[in-house]
Amino acid sequence: MNNRPIGIFDSGLGGLTVVKEIIKLLPNEDIIYLGDTARVPYGTRSKETVTKFSLEDAKFLFYKKVKCMVMACNTATALAESELRKQFHIPIFDVISPAIKDAKKISKTRKIGVIGTSATIHSGAYNASFSKACPLFVPFIEEGEVNSKALRIVAKEYLSEFKNKKIDTLIMGCTHYPIIKNIIKSILGTKINLVNPGESVAKEMSDYLIKNSMLNSQKTIGKRSYFVTDYTEHFIKVAEMFLGDRIKNNIKKVIL
Ligand code: DGL
Repeated sequence: MNNRPIGIFDSGLGGLTVVKEIIKLLPNEDIIYLGDTARVPYGTRSKETVTKFSLEDAKFLFYKKVKCMVMACNTATALAESELRKQFHIPIFDVISPAIKDAKKISKTRKIGVIGTSATIHSGAYNASFSKACPLFVPFIEEGEVNSKALRIVAKEYLSEFKNKKIDTLIMGCTHYPIIKNIIKSILGTKINLVNPGESVAKEMSDYLIKNSMLNSQKTIGKRSYFVTDYTEHFIKVAEMFLGDRIKNNIKKVIL
């Protein structure tokens, strides 16, 4: 059981920022990643649709016999977490609760902001007093426009929401956002604490696997398999940006 892989899914490729954090902490674990690239984005869709898609993603991983599962998508977590936990009886880790815990630990003023997709923010899952939906960030990042003038203008506009709110901590409540953390810092000031839910969930899962003696016993680097529901050459570039590593010969298309 313990030498089984960890299953991770996201609406697309953004969840690879979470994989990156998991690999840092648990390099010997085998990983199976599923990115639902044929149906991304989830962040603009209804609860019913996101739940249906997320259950299909989870089923794919479940049949791959994973020992635990990570919902590496804030939108899926916000809208489908309870249904997923009801239907799959293996340890499931989500990105929202560990991020909230970390933000509360770090914040000195308890004034914490959250940014995310429209679906995540409007779901109220973060239960935050200060929040802002930033729906244009995902398409900018997916296009590889991570440093453009246009993105800066949009970011300034979105983040002006937090002006005069005196937040000292901001949760980047979407798996894509760590890619543009420098832009966020340049607007909100370098003193702002940024919480990356990928880091938070990686730590939570690592602690859990250690505590429950569920670590893979192999002493070599784990095997990583990446699956997507749609494939173009452009995805490879974007995937490597999120993962910070090569992926080209290790990505397969699947039909759910
Ligand atoms: N991965 C999603 C999230 O973390 C963002 C992309 C989407 O809208 O599907 O919310």
